[in-house]
Amino acid sequence: MPKLLITPSILSADFAKLQEEVNSIAPYSDWLQVDVMDGHFVPNLSFGAPVMKAIKTDLPLDVHLMVTNPAERIDEFVEAGASHITFHAEAVPDIEDQRTLIEMIHAKGCTAGIAINPDTSLQALVPLLHAPSGSAQPELVLCMTVHPGFGGQGFIENVLPKIAMLRKNHPDLMIQVDGGINEETGKMCREAGANNLVAGSYIFKSKDRRKAIEALRS
Ligand code: DX5
Repeated sequence: MPKLLITPSILSADFAKLQEEVNSIAPYSDWLQVDVMDGHFVPNLSFGAPVMKAIKTDLPLDVHLMVTNPAERIDEFVEAGASHITFHAEAVPDIEDQRTLIEMIHAKGCTAGIAINPDTSLQALVPLLHAPSGSAQPELVLCMTVHPGFGGQGFIENVLPKIAMLRKNHPDLMIQVDGGINEETGKMCREAGANNLVAGSYIFKSKDRRKAIEALRS
């Protein structure tokens, strides 16, 4: 099982003091997730590359693109400091388009991820993940544990078997989960095989953020 990473999501941070919020969790975290929403792929609008560019941190920036045309957003987020970029399989259903986008992200020096919503079956990823060796592969698969678009939603437990199957078939893959993650649900995800936990409200709404992050590791 690859190393466990904890990735706070700034969607639940206080935007009026974003740098302070990032500084409050950075010493205890591994990555920082930036949720990019276009109001089309998901029913919410969040922030663009200029906001991410304004954040000063040594944490690797994990850009979660919840947008209809991810290919059009890659350059600006790379320029704004992205280390990792994830797009949704539902936005790019064609296997050749998925490969092209992964190659594009890799060519910009970033790692690539592909995300699936709770109702999307693992079958949607079989053509990509079971392709002949040498073809473009993502370093990460994101299994959404809520329907994307908002923080503070309830965890969808019937995603757990999907995580377990993915881990069984891909022992070295980074498996990220996102949505409704707290100490209890994070533990269930880890037991299923996830090794990168995204958490927004659980961390940023906690009185003791360090303790909250450490609870996700224990
Ligand atoms: C939702 C986003 C999540 C969200 C998680 O679409 O992708 O990253 O911020 O927030 P919580 O942890 O509060 O569910």
